[in-house]
Amino acid sequence: MPNRILITGANRGVGLALVHLLAKTAEHIYAGCRQPDSAEALQQLARSADNVSVIGLDVTDAESLTQASIAVEGGLDLLVCNAGVLNGYSGLRGSENALTSQAMAAFADVLATNIAGPLFSVQAFLPHLRRSDSAGIAIISSHMGSQQHDAANAYAYRSSKAGVNNIMVTLSHELAEEGIAVAAYHPGWVRTDMGGANAHLSVEQSAEALAQRFEQLNMARTGQFINYDGSGLQL
Ligand SMILES: NC(=O)c1ccc[n+]([C@@H]2O[C@H](COP(=O)([O-])OP(=O)(O)OC[C@H]3O[C@@H](n4cnc5c(N)ncnc54)[C@H](OP(=O)(O)O)[C@@H]3O)[C@@H](O)[C@H]2O)c1
Repeated sequence: MPNRILITGANRGVGLALVHLLAKTAEHIYAGCRQPDSAEALQQLARSADNVSVIGLDVTDAESLTQASIAVEGGLDLLVCNAGVLNGYSGLRGSENALTSQAMAAFADVLATNIAGPLFSVQAFLPHLRRSDSAGIAIISSHMGSQQHDAANAYAYRSSKAGVNNIMVTLSHELAEEGIAVAAYHPGWVRTDMGGANAHLSVEQSAEALAQRFEQLNMARTGQFINYDGSGLQL
């Protein structure tokens, strides 16, 4: 298991469950979140585990990412780009796809958070990843980003996850010569604010499965899109 890990979007949902689980074995976890002062569950965990540091981190804000990178001391073995937003499941008739400036701004925010966010997180933390002998980057994507789908909804979210899968492949090529492995993961359908109450997996189940996948992340798997159960997914 990687020893020094940074997770974005760590104050709730899958991110928080990953911090809980990985803190049991990792040397140090940097848990990034937008509002550290109001991240109560995460702060409580950090008070009881001296290997967890909470850092302010907004993946759409260059200054925030720069400050977060400064806050990290030493190397990182694993960067988990988990932060994400959904903005609804509607089709063309949904208000989120209406021809309004509000809808367009919300669409742009999904793309900025889910596509550009992981890329700029990698930019911010690459100097730390370069200090590890076996660094990896895990991008939490979604099977909804696969081009092999026949659904007719969630335009912003689907396109954002397809976009970040493309970023993952490009990163895997650019970072191959440095031996930094990059993969994208579907965490399952998980009972979080995003996944809703009817989802199949608890956050603990998803985190457990993802942790196993992260352990297997190496240069043989770089560039791949991987399901939480370890099976391969089509980009
Ligand atoms: N739940 C599912 O069924 C499911 C399925 C497939 C993929 N996923 C993916 O799994 C990841 C985690 O999802 P989740 O279900 O845990 O979602 P969630 O419960 O809605 O949590 C999302 C997290 O992302 C953070 N975040 C949003 N925008 C951010 C930004 N600009 N900078 C930093 N953090 C930001 C949120 O912080 P705030 O509290 O500040 O908003 C929150 O911590 C996402 O990438 C999601 O797309 C989830």
